[in-house]
Amino acid sequence: MSETIERQDEIRAAVLAAKNVVRRFGGLVAVNDVSFDVWPGEILGLIGPNGAGKTTMFDLLAGSILPTSGDIFLNGVQVSGEAAHRRIERGLGRTFQIPRPLPNLTLIENVMLAAQGQAGEKLLANFLAPRRVAAEEKAGEKKALELLELVALTHLAHEPARVLSGGQRKLLELSRVMMADPAIILLDEPAAGVNASLLEVIIDRIRDINARGITFLLIEHNIDMVTRLCHRVLVMASGQLLCEGTADEVARDPRVIGAYLGGAA
Ligand SMILES: Nc1ncnc2c1ncn2[C@@H]1O[C@H](COP(=O)(O)OP(=O)(O)O)[C@@H](O)[C@H]1O
Ligand SMILES: [Mg+2]
Repeated sequence: MSETIERQDEIRAAVLAAKNVVRRFGGLVAVNDVSFDVWPGEILGLIGPNGAGKTTMFDLLAGSILPTSGDIFLNGVQVSGEAAHRRIERGLGRTFQIPRPLPNLTLIENVMLAAQGQAGEKLLANFLAPRRVAAEEKAGEKKALELLELVALTHLAHEPARVLSGGQRKLLELSRVMMADPAIILLDEPAAGVNASLLEVIIDRIRDINARGITFLLIEHNIDMVTRLCHRVLVMASGQLLCEGTADEVARDPRVIGAYLGGAA
């Protein structure tokens, strides 16, 4: 019983927590009884061989799919059944492995679009309080520009998003996610397909954003990036949590080495 109370205290203190989360796809158990906490201010890595269940875990945390059983907590609040947009409002930001900005809108327009608020609401407000809407738009533009500066894309602010390279799209995605003032950002393979020099920019930007107090959960195959960025690393294999530790600790763990060798199939 005391163990349960201790777990409840941990869940309350965590930015994001998973408790005995299971997700089945037909006969396949993609995520099998996974529990973990993400502490405020940390950069937590999530690694594991292909098919381990990492992206499914992200989908469950973000609310794009619901768990078969188990619970997810955001800032101590149980959100297991909540839609993805509600979780965004509660401070969860998520980037995708392949970002798809609107190609013909400028970078600044793409970032501004990520702000909260419904189009319908805005139309009505525009009619009732046009000055307030204009002022909000101005503030939104300023914030979008600051965020583009944060990810080193100021020089392209007025270019259409279609001119960006794959790595620059990932930086744009990061600034978009920041527009909603997240408490935690889930990043799915930010290094995939990014050239070496832009990867350094992405690592620096993640550090800067983390220094502002924003927590990260990061799926990544690039072990150099994981070692340099992550305070702690979780390893998943075959839907289960295998172990956790520093990047060096898990890289030396025979169970982790075994999972990667076995997972090659
Ligand atoms: N929508 C789905 N329907 C059926 N099976 C799925 C679905 N999504 C993922 N899976 C399966 O779940 C397992 C875990 O996949 P995934 O979470 O993508 O792993 P990872 O991101 O670690 O590579 C895989 O066997 C995958 O084929
Ligand atoms: Mg994946």
